[in-house]
Amino acid sequence: MTKIISVLNTKGGATKTTTCINLGPALQEVSGKTVLLVDSDKQALLANFAKNTELEFPDVIQVTDVSSMKNLKNIGASYDYVIVDGTAKDAHITSTTISVSDLVLMPVVPSPIELDGTQAVAQMVTERLLLVDYPPAYFYCSKMKKNHAFSKRMREIIEPFELPVLLTEIQEREVYRDCYGRSESVMDLKTTGYRQARVEMRSMSAEIISILEGGSYKVDTKETGVMEVLHG
Ligand SMILES: Nc1ncnc2c1ncn2[C@@H]1O[C@H](COP(=O)(O)OP(=O)(O)O)[C@@H](O)[C@H]1O
Ligand SMILES: [Mg+2]
Repeated sequence: MTKIISVLNTKGGATKTTTCINLGPALQEVSGKTVLLVDSDKQALLANFAKNTELEFPDVIQVTDVSSMKNLKNIGASYDYVIVDGTAKDAHITSTTISVSDLVLMPVVPSPIELDGTQAVAQMVTERLLLVDYPPAYFYCSKMKKNHAFSKRMREIIEPFELPVLLTEIQEREVYRDCYGRSESVMDLKTTGYRQARVEMRSMSAEIISILEGGSYKVDTKETGVMEVLHG
């Protein structure tokens, strides 16, 4: 059964597209299953990335209207996982995406202004959870900085939203910034920080699999390769 994971935050620059570019290939690698990426943003940055990359990359389609989004389970039926890159512009598409998702992921970045868009999506998610108790929804900390006061307080700052936070944190790294311009994901790129970035993406993939399929996982944080997901 196809599982839909959506990466949502109605703030531009929250790192949604960068997460999708890198999580797509990482989830494919860690799970050994098929991944479809869905660009719901009319700016089509994810779709453009897929057009420009010459490397092996998951399939990408654009879904920018509400009626197609409602039908996403059928559209993505031949894939194991569908990852939706959210849009900053359209609240209607965002709430429709939540209603078809099996897991909602909301990036939060350590900057006071950025927390606004987070509040809007968290509210949509919470309202739906109160109504139907589904889908599970998690924050994840992105663009985190070492020795940065706001980064250190991130988990405390988002606590009032009363939603869980992924253990995996994404650091601010040159290699993530380079992805789009170089048309390569961190799974292929070799600029500064790529080893750590790969560990982050594999760790996030393992966490997602364990939330959706149950079971536990092991991440080797020192190496890029060894990674074990223990199902059931
Ligand atoms: N972990 C990261 N480290 C450094 N820069 C990042 C990271 N994640 C994203 N970025 C940069 O932040 C900007 C916004 O990211 P993007 O993925 O386009 O956000 P969104 O899709 O939410 O609008 C881009 O310039 C991107 O390269
Ligand atoms: Mg985007």
